[in-house]
Amino acid sequence: MLNGAVKAQIENGSLESKSAEDIIAWALQTFGRKIALASSFGAEDVAIIHMLAQIDPKARIFTLDTGRLNQETYDVMDKIRDTYKVSIEIMFPHTDAVEQMVRQHGLNLFYHSIENRKLCCGIRKVEPLNRALATVDAWITGLRRDQVVTRGSVKKVDIDADHGGIAKINPLADWTWEQTLDYVKQHGVPYNVLHDQGYPSIGCAPCTRAVKPGEDFRAGRWWWERPEQKECGLHVKH
Ligand code: ADX
Ligand code: SF4
Repeated sequence: MLNGAVKAQIENGSLESKSAEDIIAWALQTFGRKIALASSFGAEDVAIIHMLAQIDPKARIFTLDTGRLNQETYDVMDKIRDTYKVSIEIMFPHTDAVEQMVRQHGLNLFYHSIENRKLCCGIRKVEPLNRALATVDAWITGLRRDQVVTRGSVKKVDIDADHGGIAKINPLADWTWEQTLDYVKQHGVPYNVLHDQGYPSIGCAPCTRAVKPGEDFRAGRWWWERPEQKECGLHVKH
């Protein structure tokens, strides 16, 4: 649970003018071992890992391995592990839930209906996220305001009512995509090679495709759905 002083500091908005690095330093100092980065190893998350590693290489990092990720994503996970000597907590979905789901709906159920897609995200991502978040008082994410319409008002530090009132830290909330990529390249941070192949936003392999020049940042995610539906439940409750 958040103590009153931290809650007040978050609510008065005074942290919003801080830089990404200062937000991370404040968060690590405030929450110690009770904070973790949720990383999908996109450019935002590897930039944050670089910042975390400068302050505390033992800072907690977890990832939700849905079982349907691209090989390139596994490759960058290992590169990050080797480069920064960080330990990555890998969360898997419950086997029995996945077995039951694919037995009933098929392995590619997500293409058939929004309900099926949300069922799959629920079992493969949301439930493991909730298990990971049960161990912390705060989580860090790579959310940025200009990623998608549903994220336009994301704050750098917020109280996450959807996850029991823990703190949610989004250090890159006001960064652009170009700024993020520049940071990663300037600091020689290992990144997912799919970013060089037309994939700005990367999720699961069957639900992500490359975007064409001029297309929206998240056009390749669940490309068969409308923009306002494109949230998997990690950040917007279904
Ligand atoms: S999603 O909700 O559409 O999947 P997106 O891919 O934009 O999210 O990523 C936004 C942030 O959510 C990431 O920066 C990361 O903090 C978190 N996140 C997304 N996917 C994962 C994952 N598989 N494991 C851990 N964190 C994730
Ligand atoms: Fe399932 Fe696709 Fe969601 Fe991944 S993104 S959990 S494969 S529906």
